[in-house]
Amino acid sequence: MKNKIQVLNEKLAEAHLGGGEVRINKQHEKRKLTARERVYYFLDGGSFEEIGILVTHRTTDFNMEKETYYGDGVVTGYGTVNGRLVYVFAQDFTVFGGALSETQAEKICKVMDLAVKVGVPVIGLNDSGGARIQEGVRSLGGYADIFYRNVQASGVIPQISAIMGPCAGGAVYSPSMTDFTLMVEDTSYMFVTGPNVVKTVTNETVTAEELGGASTHATKSGVAHVISNNDVECLEDVKKLLSYLPQNSKEKTQKLPYTPGDEKREILDSIVPDNANKPYDMHQVIKGIIDENSFYEIHKEFAENIIVGFARIGGRSIGIIANQPMFLAGVLDVNSSIKAARFTRFCDAFNIPLLVLVDVPGFLPGTDQEWNGIIVHGAKLLYALSEATVPRVTVITRKAYGGAYDVMNSKHIGADFNFAWPTAEIAVMGAKGASEIIFRKEIKAADNPELKLAEKEAEYAETFANPYKAAQRGFIDEVILPHDTRRKLMKVFSMLENKEVVAPSRKHGNIPL
Ligand code: COA
Repeated sequence: MKNKIQVLNEKLAEAHLGGGEVRINKQHEKRKLTARERVYYFLDGGSFEEIGILVTHRTTDFNMEKETYYGDGVVTGYGTVNGRLVYVFAQDFTVFGGALSETQAEKICKVMDLAVKVGVPVIGLNDSGGARIQEGVRSLGGYADIFYRNVQASGVIPQISAIMGPCAGGAVYSPSMTDFTLMVEDTSYMFVTGPNVVKTVTNETVTAEELGGASTHATKSGVAHVISNNDVECLEDVKKLLSYLPQNSKEKTQKLPYTPGDEKREILDSIVPDNANKPYDMHQVIKGIIDENSFYEIHKEFAENIIVGFARIGGRSIGIIANQPMFLAGVLDVNSSIKAARFTRFCDAFNIPLLVLVDVPGFLPGTDQEWNGIIVHGAKLLYALSEATVPRVTVITRKAYGGAYDVMNSKHIGADFNFAWPTAEIAVMGAKGASEIIFRKEIKAADNPELKLAEKEAEYAETFANPYKAAQRGFIDEVILPHDTRRKLMKVFSMLENKEVVAPSRKHGNIPL
C-alpha cells in the first residue's frame, strides 16, 4: 500500500511541475504566471478540484511517445469564486507551448460539458502556441469540438476567456465565441495569421503587438472587451465580472444587500450644459445614478461614443447602454451599434435588466459609414433591443433625434418605462437643420435670411426641443427632475423584477449580421 501511495504521489508531483522548472522559470521571466498559479489565484483558497491531471497525449508520430507530460498542457477542473461554483481550464505554456492536442481538447470539452450540465460559468485561461503541430488534423478536430460546444453553451451559461499569452490561428475562434474576452497588456496577442504570414501575403510589416496585442484589440478591433496590466489584475477582472452575472440563463442575478437611504443626487441637476451643442461626460450621469463604485465598463476604449457596462442599483445588477456626448457628439455609427447590440444580447440572454441613457444626435453621416454598412449594423442594435425581454428602462437626458430616438430603447420597440429630463429634446433632428429644410423658401425670400433662420430655429426649438410633445403622447412616461433619477430607477427596476414576456414560438430570429 505504502509503495502504491508513493507511486501516486510521485506522479502528482511530476504533474505539478508541468513542462519542468526551466520552462516555468522562462514563463516567470516573461512576467507570466503558470497555469496552475493562475488557477490557484483565481479560485477561492482550497476550492480547486482538478480533473484529468494524469492525462497524457496519445501521439506516436515524430517519436512523440518519448515526450509526454501529465496533464498534457492544460489544467482543468472546478472550484469557487467568492463562494460560487465555476469550471475552469488553463492552458500550460510550459508543456509544448500549451499547444492544443486531441487529448487537451478532450479535457477542455469535458469541463465545458460539465459546466453546461451543472449550469455554471466556464472560464478559459488561454496561453497557447495553437494547434499541436505534431498532431495535425487531430488537433484541428479538437478545436472544432470546442467551437461546437462554445456555440451550444452560448446563452446557456456565461463563458469567459482570458488571453494570457499567445492565441493564434484557429485558437482565436473559441474566445471570440465566448461572451467576454479579456487580454493582458504586453504579454498576450491574438491573430488569425502572425506577422510573418502577413508580410508574405500582403507585404505589410507589422509587429505581433501592433497586429494583435491587447491595446490593438481594445481600441481598433473591439475583439478584447477588457484589458488588464498583468495576470493578477486580469484574474481579478474576471472575478469582478462574474459578480454581476447569474450562474446560468435560468437564474436571476444575485441581489447584494442594500439599505435604502436618501437617494437624491443633486449633482445630476448640473451636468447637462445649457448650450445643447456643448458636450458633457455621460460617465458623470452614470456615477450619479448607480451604487457607489459599481460600474464595470466593457469595451472602454472601443467605440467611445457609446458606453456599455454593468453596474448595481440598490444592490441589483443592471446593464447600462449610454450615448457619450464627449465622443463624436454621441452619434450612433457602425462600431458603437455593434458594441451596444452585442452587450444588449448578452444582458438579455442572462436576465440582466437594461438601463439606456440617451443623448443622441442621430446616425453618423458619410460615405465611410454608408459603405461600411451602417444601415445593417445600426439595425443590429434596433433588432437586439427590440427582441430583448428583460426589464428595459430609458432615461433621455438631452437629444433623442431621428431614427436614433427609435433605436435607443424607445417605448415603441418595447421599453417598459421611459423617463426624460426637462433638458430632453425629442425631435426628428436639431432645430437648425430642421428649419433649413422646412422653412427654406421663407428664409430665402426674407430680407435678412440669417435673421429669419435664427427666428425659425428658435420657433422650432420652442416647439420640439423639449420632452413635452412626447410626454403628451405617452411616448415618455414621466418627465423627472435629474436629482430624482436614482430613486425613480430603483423603484422601477424593483417593480419590473418579475416581468415576463412570452415570445412567439420560432426556431430563431434572423438578426441582420
Ligand atoms: N505545437 C507544438 N509545440 C509547440 C507549438 C505548437 N503549435 N508552439 C510552440 N510549441 C513548443 C515549442 O516547440 C517549444 O518547445 P520546447 O519548450 O520543447 O522548446 C515551446 O512550445 C515554447 O515555444 P517557443 O517557440 O520556445 O516559445 P516563444 O514564446 O518563443 O514563441 C510562439 C511562442 C507561440 C510564438 C511560437 O512557439 C510559435 O510560433 N508557435 C507556433 C504557432 C503556430 O503556428 N501554431 C500552429 C497554427 S494554429
